[in-house]
Amino acid sequence: MPNPDKKKKVSRKDFANLSNKEAMALAGETYRKLYGYLKPYRWRFVGGQLMGILAGLTNVLLIQGMKVIFEVVLSNDASAASKAESFKFGFGKVSFNPTDLFPAEWLGSYQLVIAACLVVPLVFLLRGGFTYLANYMLMWVGNRILYDLRNDTYRALLGQSMNYFSKAKVGQMVQTVFNQSRVAQQNLVTLSQDIIQRPVSIIAILATLLHMNPGFTFYSLVVFPLCILPVVYIGKKVRSAGAQEEQEAGQMMVQMTECFQGIRVVKSHAREEFEHKRFEASNMKTNKLIMRYQKALELVGMLVEFVASLGVGIGLYYAWKTHIDAGTFMTLVGGLTQIYPHTKSLSRIQLVTQKTIVATSNVFAVMEEEPEVQDATDAQDLKRSTGRLTFRNVGFSYKSGKSGQRSAVNGINLEMQPGKFYALVGPTGAGKSTLFSLIQRFYDVDEGAVELDGIDIRKLTQKSLRNQIGVVSQDAFLFHDTIQENIRYGRLDATPEEIQRAAVQAHVDDFVKDKKDGYDTIVGDGGGNLSGGQKQRVTIARAILRNAPILLLDEATSALDTETERIIQDAIHVLSEGKTVIAIAHRLSTILEADQIIVMENGHVHSAGTHQELLEKSDLYQRLYHLQYETSADRAAIEANAI
Ligand SMILES: Nc1ncnc2c1ncn2[C@@H]1O[C@H](COP(=O)(O)OP(=O)(O)OP(=O)(O)O)[C@@H](O)[C@H]1O
Ligand SMILES: [Mg+2]
Repeated sequence: MPNPDKKKKVSRKDFANLSNKEAMALAGETYRKLYGYLKPYRWRFVGGQLMGILAGLTNVLLIQGMKVIFEVVLSNDASAASKAESFKFGFGKVSFNPTDLFPAEWLGSYQLVIAACLVVPLVFLLRGGFTYLANYMLMWVGNRILYDLRNDTYRALLGQSMNYFSKAKVGQMVQTVFNQSRVAQQNLVTLSQDIIQRPVSIIAILATLLHMNPGFTFYSLVVFPLCILPVVYIGKKVRSAGAQEEQEAGQMMVQMTECFQGIRVVKSHAREEFEHKRFEASNMKTNKLIMRYQKALELVGMLVEFVASLGVGIGLYYAWKTHIDAGTFMTLVGGLTQIYPHTKSLSRIQLVTQKTIVATSNVFAVMEEEPEVQDATDAQDLKRSTGRLTFRNVGFSYKSGKSGQRSAVNGINLEMQPGKFYALVGPTGAGKSTLFSLIQRFYDVDEGAVELDGIDIRKLTQKSLRNQIGVVSQDAFLFHDTIQENIRYGRLDATPEEIQRAAVQAHVDDFVKDKKDGYDTIVGDGGGNLSGGQKQRVTIARAILRNAPILLLDEATSALDTETERIIQDAIHVLSEGKTVIAIAHRLSTILEADQIIVMENGHVHSAGTHQELLEKSDLYQRLYHLQYETSADRAAIEANAI
């Protein structure tokens, strides 16, 4: 059962409409889930953050180093040593005098100047080292999280029922597994870096400056709270631009995948230009949104920096008033400007979060979506079925959209015996394909039950149920791989000899012989490099290899030439041996061979029997037979056979 409390996907429209409180709640919940992904790597994460903090703390050394340089190297005063005492700095009882590092006789000497000159490169080396370690560790954690997120999202999507895929768009799914998971990962790692490391750097620099000159620092920072204004103002304006961009990028992906999936239709209608225009429109929209968002980011950064720099002006005035010397002033201003990049990053956090939260919550929504069809907790693992299928008063309707409530099949009662051949016939929309879906439990029935060997298929694991079923469908789908691998898909542990045997039985061997690469021939996307009849034979070989006790056969509606038809018919004979076969029949030869023909109409079984019986008792069958099956060629063939 779908969980009624499950969180819906958040679209940009929803997001823009959320109240601040709801947006906060969504963010909180999303981060809680992200933390679950971080947890296994938390120590490395903490290590990375610590390294980042240490890198931030080197700013303090840099400011102090600058002071040393101003007073020792750039001082016009010949006796720098006289100022050595003023280098002393520290907090409370812990104090440190840089000149302690050098022998006393160095004071005021050439060596001291050289040592001072080395301060900057050394501090940078230290900072670089810490930064490297921090980035390395956090990147490692980030990539692991991305790996986990992608795996989990992909698995969750694969686990969805057929109903999900009839609504989902391929492009959107690709976007979620591939891009939104990356955004989620960045959301966690990059943002946490900003939230943890930036404030530490700011506080450390501030503390140093306050210690050096509390008055100057205080006056310079008086205007600092004003920085919040551009953040709030601009943040509000672009609230949904970032989120919208995410959505639009998904749309672009949808357009692209759909176009390539339908490339034959596109080409045959010469709609390249049209498709390109559609893509271009989406591309342009995304581009505009990105620009709007990035403009906002830059604007916030610039304004925050500007507001902060106003403080320098005030500080300058204070410096003039209190006669601070140029060296100290330069050090203080240098320190102050080091705060700006951190403030800038912090001020952007809100914008970045707004952008990433939609993508991130989508990733989790996809992961948490409960598949409609699920294994029961005590589901049975069926080893090998005899192939007895029963429909007990089955009713089912598709639940898609508002109009989908009309029942697709109802009141179906059927008993299908092992080893027998059943043909399903009926006008279009009668419910034939729906029965196939129900046998495979792509959907759960609304009424009654489908039973295999007398067991309700809802009591079996989906895997073991589907292992009992082989399918040859009209839209013979092949993977972009070799013929050999496409056959192997039927049973992954099959040996090359078994594959070969199945290929011979399905008459795949006949045409593979003519191919340069033989069984290693790549069939192209969806099997595009093979003919329709060849593709069918490959799927039949796949089904032979699978050797399942039940066979669902959806015959191709397209006419095949007599030779191909004969070959395929022959292959199907091999395949059908000893199996319960249910065929949606489009060929006369199929219905003539069937042990029983089931005539469907409007979702129910109209009548059943052999060809002769039905010709006598069913008007519908007679009509179908004359209209659909009995072409003049067929009649000639029957007459020829009859003689
Ligand atoms: N995924 C779906 N969602 C909603 N309705 C569906 C879906 N698939 C089929 N239907 C509807 O269910 C009814 C039965 O369709 P079904 O595909 O079983 O017919 P069919 O007998 O296989 O027809 P055909 O001979 O044309 O293949 C039809 O009215 C169809 O429109
Ligand atoms: Mg059908």
